[in-house]
Amino acid sequence: MGLTFLGTGSALPELCVDNFDMAKIVDTTDEWMRTRTGIASRHIASHESLTDLITQAARRALDDAGLTPADLDLIIVATMAGDWLVPSAACSLQYQLGATCPAFDLNAACSGFLYGLHTARQFYLAGSAKRILVVGAEMLSRLADWEDLHTCPLFGDGAGAAVLGEGDGDVLESFLTAEGESGESLGCPGAGQSNFPGTPERKRRQVIHMDGRKIFNFAVKHIKTYVTEIMQKVGWTPDDVDWIAPHQANARIIQEAAKKLKMPLEKFLLNIENTGNTSAASVPILLDTMWKNGTIKRGQKIITVAFGGGLTTGQAALIW
Ligand code: ACO
Repeated sequence: MGLTFLGTGSALPELCVDNFDMAKIVDTTDEWMRTRTGIASRHIASHESLTDLITQAARRALDDAGLTPADLDLIIVATMAGDWLVPSAACSLQYQLGATCPAFDLNAACSGFLYGLHTARQFYLAGSAKRILVVGAEMLSRLADWEDLHTCPLFGDGAGAAVLGEGDGDVLESFLTAEGESGESLGCPGAGQSNFPGTPERKRRQVIHMDGRKIFNFAVKHIKTYVTEIMQKVGWTPDDVDWIAPHQANARIIQEAAKKLKMPLEKFLLNIENTGNTSAASVPILLDTMWKNGTIKRGQKIITVAFGGGLTTGQAALIW
């Protein structure tokens, strides 16, 4: 018996924006988006709040696990920006669910769900929490610059959730990294508290700025290094692994990483085509989709890996 994914859930906004819609907003094309990123469409929030999506995903995960909010010992929400600065998105979720356990947010950008999973594992191993709800949620459409073709077409909104607790599976190993010195290659400086107060610069810098090429290289290098490292830690060979569940930022990053790892691309789960990059929500949405459509099965060996703003990475090796 070990820490097991007892249930998963996800929620996407109703509005689906395809590349042809996007080409009416910025100077992009369906062909460029598909070949350079693997993205065909993404969901963008209109009437939904982030709390709506988080709550929907969490309820679906609890249903899938056959548990109620009263069964939870801890709620962790990974997000860069909740609906409110205070209370946290996790406390808003706790209220919406009618749960009574402690709840907190953490911010590790696109690695957020992995940071949440690793944190949940520490609570579980320490005996401080038996059943933990981990959510990754983001509304990057609200932080994107809708005049910048280099960023806005890449992102989508959504939430993904997992209920973790004792079962037949296990999160055998997980670890995190952070490289703060490279933080400015992906940032949103004007949305913080102290940068550029009262200046036009503040408004200009309230949106995501990204050095796409630098992040691309960071991602490919680190997926190779850390997937190799985690396989060594748990004693798996590439043949032992059933699935790699990587953060969905760009299909080409995943293709390059597969080549560098000398692993078949077929082992890499992919759903970016219809979600875009949903940041902290990407891994739990991917796992939920692949679990519910029967791709992932109980007892299978999975490595999940993410990279993102910070710059951060997170990785875990698990038996589903
Ligand atoms: N549509 C059409 N043309 C475009 C687009 C677009 N959406 N974006 C860039 N181009 C153009 C550029 O202007 C450039 O044109 P030029 O040659 O005439 O100057 C050309 O395409 C090539 O641009 P590059 O930036 O070199 O394109 P690249 O192949 O590197 O792809 C991309 C850019 C998609 C951003 C890629 O670098 C990438 O995916 N990087 C990783 C991003 C990422 O993973 N972010 C995740 C973290 S997000 C988070 O943590 C919140």
